Amino acid sequence: MWIYIIAGYLFFVEWQVLLLGDKFAMKRIALVTSGGDAPGMNAAIRAVTRVACSKGLEVIGFERGWDGLISNTFRELTPRNVGGILHVGGTILRTSRSPEFRKPEGRKKAVKALEVNDVDGLVVVGGDGSLRGALELSKISDTLIVGIPATIDNDVYGTEETIGFDTAVNTAIGEIDKIRDTANSHERIFVVEVMGRTRGFLALTIGLTVGAEVILVPEVEYNLESIVHTLEVNGAKGKKSGIIVAAEGIGDTYKLLKAIEERAGVEVRLSVTGYAQRGGNPTARSRLLANLFGEKAVDLLLQKQGNMMVGLEEGKVTSIGLQEVTTNQKQLDLTLMKLAQTLAT
Ligand code: F6P
Repeated sequence: MWIYIIAGYLFFVEWQVLLLGDKFAMKRIALVTSGGDAPGMNAAIRAVTRVACSKGLEVIGFERGWDGLISNTFRELTPRNVGGILHVGGTILRTSRSPEFRKPEGRKKAVKALEVNDVDGLVVVGGDGSLRGALELSKISDTLIVGIPATIDNDVYGTEETIGFDTAVNTAIGEIDKIRDTANSHERIFVVEVMGRTRGFLALTIGLTVGAEVILVPEVEYNLESIVHTLEVNGAKGKKSGIIVAAEGIGDTYKLLKAIEERAGVEVRLSVTGYAQRGGNPTARSRLLANLFGEKAVDLLLQKQGNMMVGLEEGKVTSIGLQEVTTNQKQLDLTLMKLAQTLAT
């Protein structure tokens, strides 16, 4: 008699475990690329899709950033249909900056899209603003959310590097190397404006790697007298041309150019690198990060860890809470400014 009762009980428990296990198992994940695009986003889409499918998950991709969640527009992603995109800039899912998602009603619609499509985990590929959006969404959704940092600005706390940064740096280097040729021929000073929004990560790395005579970043207020002094000292040493790499975040670079011309009595030209930095084939570095981050994002979801961002710390792939990411500011290594000055004498 007892043996039958115990056997029946064990049978019941096993079924509960199976049923509940099934209920909470990760089956379907979604991807979204959001905010400014960055070279390597496609590589991340490919990596997430192929790793997830290799673990038996289904993958869908919402289109046009958060707007795709709001309008419930998505497509199925398979190992085959993400082929041929690894080397292509931009994002096949397209992207947007969504004003509607900033409102609670917009975010509620996004939650609904996750629910009706049975999305257990969401991977958000984007920069600062997108990761903040991911955190807000995770507060009102049961879907586990993991962020992958992708922005040319490299301004995301919790990761040494973001997908796309290296490509943008190399794009700017290519352009500035050419500008150097004409600057030398004409013995001219060039101000080259680079992107980076309100931060100087791009400008500093680009400036250092092109041997800029002056680097201007928003983190350090610039001083016209000191710029002119540097140009004059260089001129006295026989260096008649020069490159000033200026982050867009320092303000009006044309005004700066005019001020230098007036104060130093030299000819100065302006070149704005602009949106070319956001496109182009991702470099090996950007592709590598996309692959590593993509794998880690899927791993985190399978381990039921939401509200996280994958990142790179001391060269290793790590994870960090989205709350920590969005409440801290990444610091610019200003010692590199000093090195750049020493090297550009
Ligand atoms: O965040 C990436 C970035 O390219 C910044 O460097 C730049 O300031 C901004 O996006 C431009 O934004 P938008 O595409 O909305 O003009």
